[in-house]
Amino acid sequence: MKVIICFIAAWMISYASTQSPNGSTIGTLYRWKQIDYQYPSPAQRQEAIDAGEFIQANVIPLGIERWKGRVFISTPRWKSGVPATLSSVPVSSQSESPELAPYPNWDWHNAVNCTGFTSIFRMSVDHCGIMWVLDSGQVEAFETPRQLCPPTLFAIDLETDTVVAKYPIPSEFVLQNSLITNLIVDSRDARCRDLHVYIADAWRFGLIVFRDSDAAFWRFSHYSFYPEPLLSNYTLHGLNYQWSDGLFGMSLGKYHLGDRPLYYHSMSGSLEFTVATSVIRDPSRVDNAVSEFTLLGESRGGDGQVSAAAVDRNGVMFFNLISRDAIGCWDTRNPYTNDNLAIVAQNNRTMIFPNDLRMDHEVPQLAWVITNRLPFYQFNLIDPLDYNYRVIYFDPAEVVEKTVCKQYI
Ligand SMILES: *[C@@H]1O[C@H](CO)[C@@H](O)[C@H](O)[C@H]1NC(C)=O
Ligand SMILES: *[C@@H]1O[C@H](CO)[C@@H](O)[C@H](O)[C@H]1NC(C)=O
Ligand SMILES: *[C@@H]1O[C@H](CO)[C@@H](O)[C@H](O)[C@H]1NC(C)=O
Ligand SMILES: *[C@@H]1O[C@H](CO)[C@@H](O)[C@H](O)[C@H]1NC(C)=O
Repeated sequence: MKVIICFIAAWMISYASTQSPNGSTIGTLYRWKQIDYQYPSPAQRQEAIDAGEFIQANVIPLGIERWKGRVFISTPRWKSGVPATLSSVPVSSQSESPELAPYPNWDWHNAVNCTGFTSIFRMSVDHCGIMWVLDSGQVEAFETPRQLCPPTLFAIDLETDTVVAKYPIPSEFVLQNSLITNLIVDSRDARCRDLHVYIADAWRFGLIVFRDSDAAFWRFSHYSFYPEPLLSNYTLHGLNYQWSDGLFGMSLGKYHLGDRPLYYHSMSGSLEFTVATSVIRDPSRVDNAVSEFTLLGESRGGDGQVSAAAVDRNGVMFFNLISRDAIGCWDTRNPYTNDNLAIVAQNNRTMIFPNDLRMDHEVPQLAWVITNRLPFYQFNLIDPLDYNYRVIYFDPAEVVEKTVCKQYI
């Protein structure tokens, strides 16, 4: 495992590391005060600024994925002046604040009439090197929202850097005011046949399932996808705000005896739930599965809101505790009780609002987190002189040492 850690560590460890409560190291790969893009020339960058096409303060990184030598970052078009919505940076840049390279190229971000990308939220890479990308189709959600295109799932081949498929989500599964915000890919066999994508609608409380074999979509509703009233009232570093986000975080447990669990939760909530993927992969169960969605265990408490979560190869779930500037862990073999949850990283300066969290496909596996101070961005309170956005990584096997999430065999 030391190979990857060392080559990252050698050049980055000097400028940032966060100590977890039990001593293991959480690395900061990159950090930015403001995001900048790789323009073909400085003149073109200046032209974009003069034309209002690039307003640096309006760019916020949201989704993260890693494949081989690159990290992919989405920058949704929530405010005007976001010139590109999906980018890559090398895993080994010499800069601590590298420019984002629009991915796969600028053309995809300048296209009109829904022939390119509109506003990408998040990505999920399968183990065959296809990046599944969720495009909300909507721009300027924090200003004057305009739905330019349908929410769309794209598939991008990361070996050839080509968009290989595009699946607009059929309008019957997109409700008025839907916020289709997160996705997770479930691919099981070595060649990624039998692939499904699970998609969360955080504002209309739905779980949309996509089946790759015939490009079919269907949609589940369930009361466990709703937000909890009191957990919708947030206070973060003195900022009070109300978000009523339902179904959001999703992660997949281990494949066992032909099935695997999907773990899920509302963002504005304190509870974790689970459903067998065999249930949600069966469209005939859409109106006939209410008792299959079950509560896992205890509440995480009044500041227990979680954005993204992911399960590593050892079966340990990691989750972003957005009101605690922290990342938690839970060994999925243990009951979901507070005694079985631990904090693996916490920092009230460098980890404000951990937003996305993904496990990569490397050996050894690394976890990737983006922290982005989202509520401060929403209320125009980002300080451009401070480091606001970070790409954080850690070795999931290492950070659980000496916590209850460590398997004792
Ligand atoms: C976009 O679509 C509209 C309506 O179909 C059409 O009038 C316009 O020419 C198209 N623009 C481009 C650049 O293709
Ligand atoms: C929401 O949070 C604020 C700040 O902590 C508090 O003053 C207010 O009473 C809360 N509202 C409810 C309905 O709990
Ligand atoms: C951050 O944590 C440190 C140490 O626990 C504490 O002294 C400091 O007051 C905290 N700062 C904020 C802004 O919460
Ligand atoms: C750190 O390790 C100790 C045991 O060495 C354990 O009691 C404690 O709960 C751990 N802390 C966290 C945050 O997991």
